[in-house]
Amino acid sequence: MSRWVWGLFLVLAILGGGGSRGLWAQEVETGSCQECHLEEREKKLRDPVRDWQKSVHALHQVSCDGCHGGNPKAHTKKAAKSSKAGYLGKPEEEQIPDFCGQCHGTERESFLQGPHGEALRAGTDAPTCTACHGVHNIRPPSLKRIITEDDCSDCHDFADSKKVKQGLMRINDQVKKANLLLAEVWNKGMSVDPMRRELGGVKEEVEKLVHEMAVNRTIRKEQQLTSVMEKIGDDLSRLDREANHRRFVGMISIGFLLVALVIAIGYRRTLVHRD
Ligand code: HEC
Ligand code: HEC
Ligand code: HEC
Ligand code: HEC
Ligand code: HEC
Repeated sequence: MSRWVWGLFLVLAILGGGGSRGLWAQEVETGSCQECHLEEREKKLRDPVRDWQKSVHALHQVSCDGCHGGNPKAHTKKAAKSSKAGYLGKPEEEQIPDFCGQCHGTERESFLQGPHGEALRAGTDAPTCTACHGVHNIRPPSLKRIITEDDCSDCHDFADSKKVKQGLMRINDQVKKANLLLAEVWNKGMSVDPMRRELGGVKEEVEKLVHEMAVNRTIRKEQQLTSVMEKIGDDLSRLDREANHRRFVGMISIGFLLVALVIAIGYRRTLVHRD
């Protein structure tokens, strides 16, 4: 009997050990692009991994192969970068909108419609996605950080960029304020779904305009979006007043009920007294 028990232990130990080794191997496999690149001597092969680790893409599990293609489970360089595994390599400058557009199709489309996209297609030097966002260390974007005189004055005057930036920042500010009011009104139990949808629509328009980067269209659109925002603001204020009114009526009703209750109790006591 004890031989059976020992035998069982032995089998379990082997299975257990094999299992954990299997898991460990899998972990290494899923990161083989990173594993190998971190061990390379050339800085330009190692830096992408370190930069990527701090990016929004790492946070959302978009890894090397998400952009470059290839097989991250392969052990050899050749197998990792086979064309069968869809390896794309390093994109040329004019390929970058399509490269990022594998996942960000809307931004790609808006970009290609605007003056920068047109210039790029005509073979003129123009900024693409990575000029504004960076390559591997991509962080949550903002107009304030990205559109600066330092970064946008190499090829042309900053005046146009400033106009676009200020116009879009004004709308973003209005959207922010409206979102605060929306949360407040929602907390008071009112239905705000239509306004939430409209605000989402405005934000989408702003994102399109950022990527198009055309002055006249931005100025025209700003006027239109400002009146949309005014309407959303009015609708929310009206709901806010309605919610406050309901609260007021509710309080008054409760007050009346309390007074009625006190009178009823008082009346019952006088009856009890008389008996
Ligand atoms: C076993 C090591 C190894 C693995 C695995 C590996 N790479 Fe590389 N990679 C290299 C080396 C070395 C270079 C330098 C160029 C060369 O020797 O081909 C390189 C170059 C690159 C380049 C630049 C290409 C260019 O044209 O400049 C990219 C992009 C790249 N690797 C992405 C990946 C991706 C994505 C994966 C995973 C699917 C991966 N690598 C897996 C070793 C590796
Ligand atoms: C968000 C998309 C994206 C992800 C994710 C990404 N890369 Fe890249 N990578 C690019 C682009 C775009 C370029 C071309 C940059 C350029 O032309 O300067 C590039 C260039 C490179 C190069 C060439 C660098 C040089 O200076 O020649 C290497 C090597 C590389 N990537 C490796 C990696 C590795 C390893 C990972 C995973 C840790 C990774 N990349 C993840 C977009 C990405
Ligand atoms: C494999 C799909 C994929 C590719 C290719 C890709 N991204 Fe992303 N990207 C994502 C995901 C997923 C997120 C996180 C969710 C989100 O914000 O949409 C993200 C987020 C971002 C953000 C931040 C958005 C925010 O609001 O915080 C930027 C900027 C961005 N990507 C730019 C790029 C650029 C530039 C490239 C090309 C160099 C690129 N991406 C390539 C999938 C991808
Ligand atoms: C001229 C600079 C510039 C270029 C070129 C550019 N972006 Fe952006 N991008 C921005 C700015 C600024 C924001 C932030 C907008 C905001 O805060 O309203 C942004 C926002 C984003 C976001 C977050 C969601 C959104 O749409 O707001 C993604 C994803 C993104 N860009 C991807 C891309 C891709 C992909 C390309 C190339 C096709 C690209 N960007 C080209 C400046 C740029
Ligand atoms: C590598 C050169 C280059 C850089 C850097 C550059 N641009 Fe441009 N930009 C161009 C070209 C080319 C055009 C199209 C021709 C023209 O209007 O000068 C253009 C046009 C524009 C226009 C359109 C003007 C119109 O006619 O409506 C705006 C706005 C603009 N750029 C903003 C920016 C911003 C913001 C940045 C910084 C994030 C920037 N640019 C950085 C090359 C560049």
